[in-house]
Amino acid sequence: MNHTVTRALAAAPLDPVDARALLRHALGVDAAYLIAHAGQTLTDVQGALFSALVARRRAGEPVAYIVGAREFFGLEFKVTPAVLIPRPETELLVEFALERIAPERACRVLDLGAGSGCVAVSIAKHRPLARVVAVDRSTAALAVARDNVRQHAVTNLELLESDWFDALAGQQFDVIVANPPYVAADDPHLRQGDLRFEPAAALAAGTDGLDCIRLISAAAPQYLSGGGWLVYEHGYDQAARCRELLTQAGFSEVFSRADLAGIARVSGGQWCARS
Ligand SMILES: C[S@@+](CC[C@H](N)C(=O)[O-])C[C@H]1O[C@@H](n2cnc3c(N)ncnc32)[C@H](O)[C@@H]1O
Repeated sequence: MNHTVTRALAAAPLDPVDARALLRHALGVDAAYLIAHAGQTLTDVQGALFSALVARRRAGEPVAYIVGAREFFGLEFKVTPAVLIPRPETELLVEFALERIAPERACRVLDLGAGSGCVAVSIAKHRPLARVVAVDRSTAALAVARDNVRQHAVTNLELLESDWFDALAGQQFDVIVANPPYVAADDPHLRQGDLRFEPAAALAAGTDGLDCIRLISAAAPQYLSGGGWLVYEHGYDQAARCRELLTQAGFSEVFSRADLAGIARVSGGQWCARS
């Protein structure tokens, strides 16, 4: 006798949120369908598929990689193991950029380390007059980002393969956002939980985790127009050091902003060209 939707969910040895996401994926339905069809009996094929997905999750594979998607800033993004799984705290970067870009203003935005493209696509979608450039060094990540650009029908976003600013000589931007790798290379968290499955090149950045942030803080002024802003995400304990790096690089209005848990997760500053 096969399980009903309710029974299959209750019997799955998983966090209930994960179990629902996997069952939705196995059945090819949305959340509302699961609620409305709680008494529906799974077919043999559906039951077997759900069991296989549950086994993968039990083995540690992140739900986002199993179902191939993750929601970010109200949009659904394709994700594969070639890209970081978009995180809720990264939405702070998008919020900051949208605050700085009036909807009726044409301006230039740069996203460093595009990954799935979640940050750049969200900004481009909400600010159709902005020209957004997003770079990544990973060809595989850019292929995923390209799919997401297509999926969201964004036409004001250009993706470039580049080692940070290398392909951007002579270009200037009004806002630069970045979610660079910022985990210390020997941090034990890299060998735990979901991080084990994510690309190391998206996470680790030298002995103190600040290699990329140091480089970006120092190089960004060359690519910012006068009055332009740089803002980047960093680790939960890196805010003070990031503000120092921004100040050393000559930024003013240096700030940090906290996530919903009250932890400073992004820092930035304004570039006012020196005379
Ligand atoms: C933490 S992930 C952020 C991905 C995406 N922006 C997000 O927030 O989900 C960092 C990204 O930076 C890229 N990256 C790492 N080193 C880079 C470099 N030297 N130049 C350009 N991109 C780089 C990685 O490939 C990865 O996609």
